[in-house]
Amino acid sequence: MSAKPMGSANVPRHIAIIMDGNGRWAKARRLPRIKGHEEGARSVRAVIRACRDAGVEYLTLYAFSVENWIRPPAEIRGLMRLLKKTLREQEFELHENKVRLRVIGRLQDLPRDLRVELKRVMRETAHYASGNLILALSYGGRTEIVHAARQLARRVANGEISHRSINEKSFARHLYAPDVPDPDLLIRTSGEMRISNFLLWQISYSELYVTDVHWPDFRDEELAKAIKAYAQRQRRFGDIK
Ligand code: FPP
Repeated sequence: MSAKPMGSANVPRHIAIIMDGNGRWAKARRLPRIKGHEEGARSVRAVIRACRDAGVEYLTLYAFSVENWIRPPAEIRGLMRLLKKTLREQEFELHENKVRLRVIGRLQDLPRDLRVELKRVMRETAHYASGNLILALSYGGRTEIVHAARQLARRVANGEISHRSINEKSFARHLYAPDVPDPDLLIRTSGEMRISNFLLWQISYSELYVTDVHWPDFRDEELAKAIKAYAQRQRRFGDIK
């Protein structure tokens, strides 16, 4: 996320996180689900800071999936309000640390007030190069892949490119954030062993780290454990070593 000690082979350049377990955290405390999301937003702020201090250049957070729209309307409203509030609270730090905000997903699905705020902060931080905070909002991995395929099909139909020029590289250029390197480390909190339609294309060779800790309890120390576990992995990318 920042210009701090970058480039160490042991620190992932890009961390992507499936932030799960807000509801379970709240339930265990007999609190309404939104309280879990609110505590989760505090973890978001703590992890952004911790990533910056560790020298992580890209942090992608799965904040809302295309599937999450089927949740009760009151929970969706609460989450959208919380996203806007957290964005406002975090804005100063983005500027202070020269971190660029980006969004991947169907921005057009989001409530207008949130969309306007996101676009404003994205515009105002677009020139920063010390770090990247990428929010996956109304995001689905399959949706992203279909979106890329459709764009390529249109370019072929328009005669701009030949179907023969389509390969992994040119395909990847049509994903939502083509210049962002693939995640080195994918973290999932709250113990579930699944990908849940997150970054399907980009995580081909990402190292996976699943912890039982619920997202509201995932703070600096938990991130440090994940980075430590990553440092001990041997990445082979299909080769033998
Ligand atoms: C999963 O918990 C979490 C979400 C669907 C939303 C994540 C949102 C936040 C952490 C709030 C703020 C985010 C940002 C980026 C500011 P769950 O509700 O699926 O938990 P459960 O599986 O235990 O029910």
